Amino acid sequence: MRSMSSQPSTPPRRLTAPDIAARKGGAPIVSLTAYETLTAAIADKHCDVLLVGDSLAMVVHGYESTVPVSLDLMIAHGRAVTRGARRALVVVDLPFGTYEESPKVAFRSAARVMKETECGAVKLEGGRHMAETIRYLVDRGIPVMAHIGLTPQAVNTLGGFKVQGRTEAQWNGLMADAKAVAEAGAFAIVLEAMPGELAERITAEVPVPTIGIGASAVCDGQILVMDDMLGMAERVPKFVKRYAEIGAAIDSAIGNYAAEVRDRRFPAKEHTYAAAQPAATRKAGS
Ligand code: KIV
Repeated sequence: MRSMSSQPSTPPRRLTAPDIAARKGGAPIVSLTAYETLTAAIADKHCDVLLVGDSLAMVVHGYESTVPVSLDLMIAHGRAVTRGARRALVVVDLPFGTYEESPKVAFRSAARVMKETECGAVKLEGGRHMAETIRYLVDRGIPVMAHIGLTPQAVNTLGGFKVQGRTEAQWNGLMADAKAVAEAGAFAIVLEAMPGELAERITAEVPVPTIGIGASAVCDGQILVMDDMLGMAERVPKFVKRYAEIGAAIDSAIGNYAAEVRDRRFPAKEHTYAAAQPAATRKAGS
């Protein structure tokens, strides 16, 4: 009889958009961005949502904003992440220019993302003006995470990566955006870079979870750019907490490697293959 320990373990069930929606007001939803397989597999052990954010344009590809990223690039990274994640809901960003024009254009882009990456949902930026598109996608089987407040794809009209809703006079518009996207069927809403008081009001008034990034601890969940919280970048926004200094660790490791190569300490004997001994020598020697 096979022992219990030799039974193959059942893979964890992947979380779905309705699972995340059902977490409104419950245990905080833990989310991070992920862009490739290895770190996605590590983050998957801890996170409920992995977002293949178009922030990869800046973080991985060195662009100054998220505007230049293409649908093909998002799909390539999306595939890499779904290969690494087993339990978390994987959400892929629709990049700038692939969904704003019309609900039909958005459907074509989103359907490609869903089919080619096997992710569980897409995210798009915008409030009231995107509500019709969100409804169109959801009605056709595509779960949508909305994103309001600081919407980085609009950096050129916003005039920079600026906190939104600083004054109470601007709150009505952002509240209307949140209600419109929830009403249209978004299963969760990212609230980026806004005062905690506004995030609290929105969280209290919408029936779907809010996921904050620079929007205080009152939200139903949190998200950060993984490379920021790991300490890869020298400068990060105020709302980021650095949980590690991986950039400094990489710098030191590569510095040590370079020094050891230069003075021939690497590779050492244990990193080097020995030639097979001829049969006659082996008999005599062993
Ligand atoms: O692209 C991204 O990483 C995002 C998060 C910051 C929410 O949209």
